[in-house]
Amino acid sequence: MSIPTLTLNNGVELPSIGLGVYQSAAEETAAAVESALRTGYRHIDTAAIYGNERQVGEGLRASGVDRDEVVIETKVWVSDFSHDRTLHAFEKSTGKLGVDTIDLLILHQPAPSRFDQTIAAYQALEELLADGRVRAIGVSNFTPSHLDQLLAAVEVVPAVNQVELHPYFSQPALQGVDHDLGILTQAWSPIGGITFYPGWGEHRRSVMEDETLAAIAADHGKTPAQVMLRWHVQEGRSAIPKSVNPVRIAENFDIGDFELSGDELASIDALDSGVRSGPDPDVERPAMFERMIPEA
Ligand SMILES: NC(=O)c1ccc[n+]([C@@H]2O[C@H](COP(=O)([O-])OP(=O)(O)OC[C@H]3O[C@@H](n4cnc5c(N)ncnc54)[C@H](OP(=O)(O)O)[C@@H]3O)[C@@H](O)[C@H]2O)c1
Repeated sequence: MSIPTLTLNNGVELPSIGLGVYQSAAEETAAAVESALRTGYRHIDTAAIYGNERQVGEGLRASGVDRDEVVIETKVWVSDFSHDRTLHAFEKSTGKLGVDTIDLLILHQPAPSRFDQTIAAYQALEELLADGRVRAIGVSNFTPSHLDQLLAAVEVVPAVNQVELHPYFSQPALQGVDHDLGILTQAWSPIGGITFYPGWGEHRRSVMEDETLAAIAADHGKTPAQVMLRWHVQEGRSAIPKSVNPVRIAENFDIGDFELSGDELASIDALDSGVRSGPDPDVERPAMFERMIPEA
């Protein structure tokens, strides 16, 4: 069984597994992207705030893979939320990536206390979409209430909502809302990175060490990361595991040769604790507006 391709609500196709590059050091990013594209990945997820869009572009060109075969996804940071600033954010990102168009451009997160600016930023994305500068637009870290507020003011339903989603926080209610609206749920920290990478608080339980996942992995001769990615794919989500290690990049893509049973999927669904490990999208950190995105 191969890794399926998903179709967004405007017909654009998205491979269900892509490479994430959050916290990929700039000097490691080009090699990671090149390695992923040579392995067969055709979707890269970056963001203006990650500071590595330039290296994503370098990796793309070094891979020799045709630009048109790769879905490039990037995100507009909150300090660039306004109609004009968001249009300029597109120029900054395309300049760094070295591309003319962006396949999937999304708002990195809502700005709850300045939701008018969030809406203005999204309306700029709608213009870029209408002008053919981007092929699909979306959001990230939006709750059902943020989606309600957005949809009351805009025309284009987001193609994706990229949110924290791993076995310990699988957000079934949000997934249901996304589904009903025709929005693809895209999992960040799909193998639970937020539950184990350093610097995100104490008292976390690493999904990677979960006993249920270990047992399922052993039964299939696969790793817990591969089981989690298979779970996302079989449940119809997009997942963007991050790695800078070529062996793990390949491992995360090697999930086409096994299938989880309905009982196995249900036992992974049952691991949901309902408690997020990452930031609450409704709790605004004023410092996030002070982080400025450099020019290309
Ligand atoms: N929209 C948002 O607000 C938001 C927030 C967070 C993340 N994201 C996106 O989602 C992507 C993925 O999320 P994430 O980076 O938070 O977490 P993740 O992909 O779930 O986990 C990444 C961590 O797992 C390690 N790893 C990768 N493959 C592995 C494997 N097969 N076995 C064991 N360890 C493995 C990586 O280290 P190595 O690199 O050393 O392999 C890294 O420490 C990000 O890169 C970013 O593109 C978006």
